[in-house]
Amino acid sequence: MLITGGAGFIGSHVVRLFVINYPEYHIYNLDMLTYAGNLENLKDLENFKNYHFIRADINDEKEINRLFAKYRFDKIIHLAAESHVDRSITDPLAFVKTNVIGTMNLLNAAKNNWPEDFKDNLFYHISTDEVYGSLGETGLFTETTAYDPNSPYSASKASSDHFVRAYGETYNIPYIITNCSNNYGPNQFPEKLIPLFINNIIEEKKLPVYGDGKYTRDWLYVKDHAVAIDLTFHKGKNYCTYNIGGFNEWQNIDLVKLLCDLMDDKLDRKKGTSKALITYIKDRPGHDKRYAIDANKIKKELGWKPSVTFEEGLEQTIDWYLANKKWLNNVTSGDYQNYYTTHYNS
Ligand code: NAD
Ligand code: DAU
Repeated sequence: MLITGGAGFIGSHVVRLFVINYPEYHIYNLDMLTYAGNLENLKDLENFKNYHFIRADINDEKEINRLFAKYRFDKIIHLAAESHVDRSITDPLAFVKTNVIGTMNLLNAAKNNWPEDFKDNLFYHISTDEVYGSLGETGLFTETTAYDPNSPYSASKASSDHFVRAYGETYNIPYIITNCSNNYGPNQFPEKLIPLFINNIIEEKKLPVYGDGKYTRDWLYVKDHAVAIDLTFHKGKNYCTYNIGGFNEWQNIDLVKLLCDLMDDKLDRKKGTSKALITYIKDRPGHDKRYAIDANKIKKELGWKPSVTFEEGLEQTIDWYLANKKWLNNVTSGDYQNYYTTHYNS
């Protein structure tokens, strides 16, 4: 099987789960190692016989076709993407290239290389709840909510979802799409809210909260997402979509305050030290007000539900970042510093 984007945040947890749980599979992790991909995330798997790494760009049509013909992957879990909304606002085309064209290249390689009956094949596409747009104060995204993306990132993910579904309808390529809510946990690049704020608290830097901070997200621990992917990959119905979420909505400002209190405890700092770093800044353009997932389909059909509470998951996440300062230092040096200065000082 092929897993794309396995050196990234969610991908690394998925690769580890599959490599450990399925010694009989030959697992190929294809990743271009952009700023967000990091083989340090998978160091513990280097000597596993069922694990192989391929450095390649999903935008390279010829190379993707060559790899499909050479390794004859039966199944794909496709995670590789540009994933940060703020970067999509600065450089939308990079998101169209990787998220839309890159996905098309994988779909075409599958269509060209898989046998006509597709008996043993699956194209499992990892998507996001952001394709559904923004909710008001009430309601939840279900699998039948109409797509209404608002950022270049979510528009590119929505487009890739449509192509996956279209290839299913038109060419019968068996697919599954899962649309998941916000993930958090170890190995997340510190451009996203939780790891960025953990890093800034460690370094006693300001905590830049967009707008009034009253935006709501539904948070899921990344290892619970990986378990949901394992279950859906093996037991989900082809040609279907499943929503995955944490049943766990938080307004940003409440989450940030909880994080500040936990960090003060962990760092032996006086209560209130981290909260004093909170700074409200200019809002993100097109900022979606609220996301919340109805994950009852996957719960009822496949028996999945999150295994940790938010407080447990957040504490494990903080502990991981505090124990892995070298990882943090490695990823926050170089290009990242330029991104941070340009984005937050503009
Ligand atoms: P990430 O940015 O941490 O990792 C993306 C990975 O893809 C990196 O390893 C990167 O090197 C690789 N990649 C990027 N462009 C590539 C290219 N052209 N060719 C090959 N590899 C390339 O992302 P993530 O947060 O782990 O998200 C993984 C997937 O899950 C994405 O498809 C994202 O849309 C989706 N998703 C993310 C979340 C979340 O909260 N992070 C929630 C729902 C869905
Ligand atoms: O919902 C799933 C999506 O969640 C994934 O598809 C995306 O890949 C992932 O990046 C995430 O998108 P968000 O935009 O919701 O995540 P982010 O961590 O960037 O922001 C979470 C909230 O925090 C959002 O309301 C914006 C706010 N925020 C974020 C940053 C980086 C701030 O207030 N300040 C910040 O500096």
